[in-house]
Amino acid sequence: MVQEFDKVGVVGLGTMGAGIAEVFARAGFNVIGVEIDQAALDRGRGHVDKSLSRAVSRGKLTEEERAGIDARLSFTTSREDLADADFVVEAVPERMDIKRDVFGDLDRICPPGTILATNTSSLSVTEIAALTGRPDKVVGLHFFNPAPVMKLAEVITTVSTSSDTVDVVTEVAKRIGKTPIAVGDRAGFVANALLVPYINDAVRLYERKVASREDIDAAVQKAAGLPMGPLTLADLVGLDVCLAVMDVLWEEYRDPRYVAAPLLRRMVAAGRLGRKSGQGFYAGTEDQAEPRP
Ligand code: 3HC
Repeated sequence: MVQEFDKVGVVGLGTMGAGIAEVFARAGFNVIGVEIDQAALDRGRGHVDKSLSRAVSRGKLTEEERAGIDARLSFTTSREDLADADFVVEAVPERMDIKRDVFGDLDRICPPGTILATNTSSLSVTEIAALTGRPDKVVGLHFFNPAPVMKLAEVITTVSTSSDTVDVVTEVAKRIGKTPIAVGDRAGFVANALLVPYINDAVRLYERKVASREDIDAAVQKAAGLPMGPLTLADLVGLDVCLAVMDVLWEEYRDPRYVAAPLLRRMVAAGRLGRKSGQGFYAGTEDQAEPRP
């Protein structure tokens, strides 16, 4: 069934969407990336270009392979161009009003057989599926940052997802080189339900001045052998995303261990979102390099 797949749409080309578009194009699919306006489209295309250039300069891709990938990638500001897409992944900002707008359009524009996947990390896949007239063909396909590198893909199913859809999406995930895991639609799914409270606990240690940010990160890196410490990871993931996940965990379970650290909330309120905003726990200007707890 997957062999028949040809054209994959990716809606939203921020950090995650651009990475997802790259992953599909590298796996041989024809990809059409969609953004809201030309400026956002140029930024998204820039993310993909930068990542592919890095792969070439590191000798991971030949110039010829890169040319093939470029030829399989196209970009548009018109969702109508997804009228013949076989599979669409949505990676727009984490707001239900934006998802409603996107999924309303996708449901109208795409053929009835097209599977619609969301990369949401903090919203209910069930609610997103219910925005369409094809909830049996809507799943979560949750990637991890950086999408071209991280191997996990959570395949999130709802009470409405058909088993055919699950089979196809699981096969697609394998075909793009990811390790799929089957996950139910619960707050945080699996990976974020484990990772984000751990990041939140690190923020608590930091705001209580138990240790410096560097030492908190070093503790985990050196003790557990993870590639980066929790505060560096928070900057990579985006503090707004971490906060959104904490808030849905709290909403769902009302368990005190899921209360967001006050500093996390304040940093998001201040627009200090990590790498994407240029300032987080580390990425700061000279005079404001470290957040004041
Ligand atoms: N895009 C594409 N490729 C990238 C990249 C990016 N943004 N960042 C790094 N890479 C590639 C490099 O090109 C390199 O590839 P190669 O081995 O084929 O040459 C490889 O990744 C390693 O990169 P570096 O040598 O530059 O740096 P590191 O060895 O320090 O690795 C890292 C960087 C891959 C980011 C590593 O530190 C890591 O795995 N960190 C943990 C990331 C993590 O836990 N992500 C999950 C976050 S949770 C999430 O995303 C869920 C969401 O819903 C919130």
